[in-house]
Amino acid sequence: MNWLNDNVNLLTLLGAAAIIILTVGVAGKYIKQIKTDKATGELTGDNWDGIGEFSNELPYGWSLAFLGTIVWGLWYFFLGYPLATFSQIGQYNDEVKSYTQRFESKWANPDHETLMGMGEGVFLVQCAPCHGITGDGMGGKAADLTSWNSEDHIVRIVKDGSKGQGYPLGEMPAGLLDKASAEAVAAYIVQDLSKSGKSKHPELVAKGKTLFATCGACHGMDGKGMGGSAPSLANYGKAKFVVDVLNKGKKGTIGRMPKFNDGRLTDIQKTAVGTYVDSLSEE
Ligand code: HEC
Ligand code: HEC
Repeated sequence: MNWLNDNVNLLTLLGAAAIIILTVGVAGKYIKQIKTDKATGELTGDNWDGIGEFSNELPYGWSLAFLGTIVWGLWYFFLGYPLATFSQIGQYNDEVKSYTQRFESKWANPDHETLMGMGEGVFLVQCAPCHGITGDGMGGKAADLTSWNSEDHIVRIVKDGSKGQGYPLGEMPAGLLDKASAEAVAAYIVQDLSKSGKSKHPELVAKGKTLFATCGACHGMDGKGMGGSAPSLANYGKAKFVVDVLNKGKKGTIGRMPKFNDGRLTDIQKTAVGTYVDSLSEE
């Protein structure tokens, strides 16, 4: 009997034997007690086919065990295993959070060159699959970003309208102004309102300013979008204008642009890709 030479095996077997002997002994004692002991105390007076009921107090230990079970149950659900335990998803989220924090503090004050480099990287991974490597929208599969924040784009939007970003004001109707007026408004927005660049038609800026009243009804006379009711045109041509699209997504006439507000990109990465997208339409 080789396995009996192993001390640990032997100890385990002895332990098991002791447990069996104790269980049989204790259980036997109580079974015998049930058979021979006479219960004492006052009867309640109820009688079911000759079986009576004592009006004894609930045994103290029994009540304590019952209360203990309730307390333990509450602890178990709210502090113990299911909610507070280790989970791989929790650990993953914690790690992502700490990496993101480190990333954010490392690139807290990026210069233009850093933003462009980071933006190009993000663009190639996150945006190019739909918008194409050059950002041209791959023959109409997604928005053509090579002219997206130019003056021409404003003229196009005024002609066609815009929908699908879910702003409280809903859709921007098509055909608000004729082409010449739209060009003037575009010149005003780019050169004076957002100051994002020099207009191709500086002579139209003053005319555009008066015509902007049509747009101000929804975008606000300061162009800032009336507290989020419509896009802020004061950001037109700047990274922030792209960031607003990333946070909202768009279900427009071309197709569906996903939202990027789920933590996939940090704020700095959004600004970076916005800066890069802006550069695509520089003439
Ligand atoms: C009836 C309200 C309304 C008026 C008037 C209006 N807009 Fe808009 N505009 C909106 C809304 C709402 C959006 C966002 C629509 C969307 O979901 O894409 C928008 C979007 C835009 C955009 C962004 C489009 C894009 O590609 O994301 C530009 C640029 C714009 N408007 C310019 C103008 C100009 C210029 C005028 C004046 C001629 C004007 N809007 C008048 C409501 C309006
Ligand atoms: C799943 C495909 C897809 C991906 C990924 C994607 N886009 Fe788009 N995007 C679209 C489509 C489709 C549209 C056109 C929506 C419309 O107007 O119908 C669009 C529109 C846009 C617009 C114009 C929105 C407007 O208001 O007209 C911008 C800016 C833009 N995308 C930027 C980005 C950037 C930056 C990324 C990467 C971070 C990105 N997109 C990733 C599909 C995509």
